[in-house]
Amino acid sequence: MKILILFAHPAFQKSNANRVLVKDIKKIEGVTFHDLYEEYPEFDIDIKREKELLTQNDVIIFHHPMFWYSTPAILKEWQDIVLEHGWAYGMDGDALKGKLFFNAITAGGPRQAYDKEGLHSNDINDFLAPIRQTAILCNMIPLPPFVVYGTHGIIREDLDNYKNNYFQLLNNLCEDNIDIEKMKEELGFILGEKPGIELDYRQETLLLEDGKTPKKIIVVPKRIVNIVV
Ligand SMILES: Cc1cc2nc3c(=O)[nH]c(=O)nc-3n(C[C@H](O)[C@H](O)[C@H](O)COP(=O)(O)O)c2cc1C
Repeated sequence: MKILILFAHPAFQKSNANRVLVKDIKKIEGVTFHDLYEEYPEFDIDIKREKELLTQNDVIIFHHPMFWYSTPAILKEWQDIVLEHGWAYGMDGDALKGKLFFNAITAGGPRQAYDKEGLHSNDINDFLAPIRQTAILCNMIPLPPFVVYGTHGIIREDLDNYKNNYFQLLNNLCEDNIDIEKMKEELGFILGEKPGIELDYRQETLLLEDGKTPKKIIVVPKRIVNIVV
């Protein structure tokens, strides 16, 4: 599968987390890294070009830091003007049909802050509901987000681990190693449609890092290893 990463960071020169995450990302065969703020500093998004890029790829990723429980501004503008009626959705709007979609996010808040009892009072999937539903309306298959939590205090080793996991996920997707049909078959639903379920693309040993038992599914190439709900 071919992957389009729509990257949005308005102050990349000051970035710590995303700088590590995206280093060498362009070298992954099958990945198109598209930096929206770099391409369109004046927000003059080229709709035709964006549509072409979307059409040429099978997996669409919104990669961005969490800003006010949402995306940086250019990604909202991008959605507003690129996802046109009659093309992305609505009658005959099937240009994106069957493509996989998910967010790759860095969040300042730690994992435990994104919880009913935590500082942000909600799971990160709750905040992503409008984006997930947009993907569904556009006939895409939503996958749960890839999230780097706690970027404020993160140590380099953890960041490197996240980066390795992200690259592993991208490679798995490129090589068609993630079997969506099998997930559907085993779980009985399309993963990203169920808020509260989080895909853990990492190794099993890292699952319980925060001492809790969150709702997680571990996915490795071609099979589901474990589901904890
Ligand atoms: C305008 C703004 C809004 C932010 N909103 C959130 C937020 O809603 N939730 C959160 O966890 N972190 C929030 N943060 C923190 C960023 O997500 C965090 O700094 C970023 O992911 C770190 O990535 P970087 O090192 O690549 O910049 C916000 C930061 C800024 C500047």
